[in-house]
Amino acid sequence: MEHYVVKGGNPLSGEVEIAGAKNAALAILAASIMANEPVTIENVPDVSDIRAIVGAIDEIGGIVEHPERHIYRINGAYIKNEPVDNEAVRKIRGSYYLIGALLGKYKSAEVALPGGCNIGLRPIDQHIKGFRALGAEVHVAPPGLVVAHAEELTGSHIYMDVVSVGATINIIMAAVMAKGSTIIENAAKEPHVVDLANFLNSMGARIRGAGTDVIRIKGVEALHGTDYSIIPDQIEAGTYMYAAAATKGDVTITNVIPKHLECLTAKLTEIGCEVTESDDSVRVVANKRLGHTNVKTLPYPGFPTDMQPQISVLLGLSKGTSIVTESIFENRFKYTDELAKMGGRFRVEGNTAIIDGIEQYTGAKISAPDLRAGAALVTAALAARGYSEVYDIHYIERGYEDFPEKLRSLGACIALVNSDDEERRAINRFNMRVVG
Ligand code: UD1
Repeated sequence: MEHYVVKGGNPLSGEVEIAGAKNAALAILAASIMANEPVTIENVPDVSDIRAIVGAIDEIGGIVEHPERHIYRINGAYIKNEPVDNEAVRKIRGSYYLIGALLGKYKSAEVALPGGCNIGLRPIDQHIKGFRALGAEVHVAPPGLVVAHAEELTGSHIYMDVVSVGATINIIMAAVMAKGSTIIENAAKEPHVVDLANFLNSMGARIRGAGTDVIRIKGVEALHGTDYSIIPDQIEAGTYMYAAAATKGDVTITNVIPKHLECLTAKLTEIGCEVTESDDSVRVVANKRLGHTNVKTLPYPGFPTDMQPQISVLLGLSKGTSIVTESIFENRFKYTDELAKMGGRFRVEGNTAIIDGIEQYTGAKISAPDLRAGAALVTAALAARGYSEVYDIHYIERGYEDFPEKLRSLGACIALVNSDDEERRAINRFNMRVVG
């Protein structure tokens, strides 16, 4: 079975370039079908979640061109507004953005319930509440199809009961072509909400306040074509920052917006790591064992839940006891069972992990339970003594472009292998210190 084999113990060092933000790209690709003209989107990461949403757009009649690895050109003029339901759509979370995009454009959408990482209940009641406030009738029909129809969408004042990235983005898309004005209060402030709003504004939408908790939208008749480049991926950048720290390395992470990384940088500095920011890069240097701290995940600009496994792996190697509290999702500590196989000392009580730092993890056979935890477990394997095998890497491929290649360019011994023979050959190469 396809898996990574990793020989741990090499500090990561060098430079790594960050791809476009997966979660921004999912929303922006879905929104691109709202125009009847070509839309060119640059800096799209080459990961499997993106291929899934592009496949869904193609299936419903969007004209999709892919002239370069990171560029898509999409024309939504010939969309057939039919039910969107296939295996790919049911696997990813971002497919629910097609509900907002189709409802906003055609006042009608039928889209399979989204999938995504199994990290908690992940209801979509706030999305539905927003669509209904705009005048849509919404129900979930068997076998799990969200059906939303409206004679006309009319601007409304919507107060979100929980801060939700997905619901904020979906309501924005449904509202941009509604009649009149919409106000979304208690909106999510994540960088990808701002990126989606900037993208739609470049298509002629009138959205103000994205990045604050009150977003105001004035409906327009139609959206037009545009050229747009997606922001860098905050979570991919953070993953390399924390991998550098966990392996006591020295890594410069390029093509980033340092402002989006501030809370990640603050935690690293707090535990004794050196972080230097420049205009579009950050350098992380950790030449000693780091200290402990407490962390609670929160909506942006708080500490992101998508970095919770990565910081837990790092704190598992720090001096002293740390407490990590997960306040966004109910079931996001499954990976600690895998870290326990590597000698990690994690005790999970409800939404809290109590972590007693050890000197070093020991290589083990482990499995990725979801996307971000998968990347975090690879980080643990890179920092560990000896060899690890990491399985279920399809999760990691959903959101990290060229993950083993980028890590190898930083001096890591990691190889993607398919059989025992390939694994033996990879280990021989590692032992000859030929990386790759
Ligand atoms: C998005 C990200 C995911 C990230 C998460 C939080 C994408 C494709 N995924 O997921 O990587 O971990 O934001 O930053 O961008 N909730 C409700 N009702 C709703 C919607 C959400 O109760 O209708 C709750 C969720 O259960 C969760 C919290 O709100 O407890 C935040 O979820 P949300 O921000 O919506 O996450 P996603 O958009 O699913």
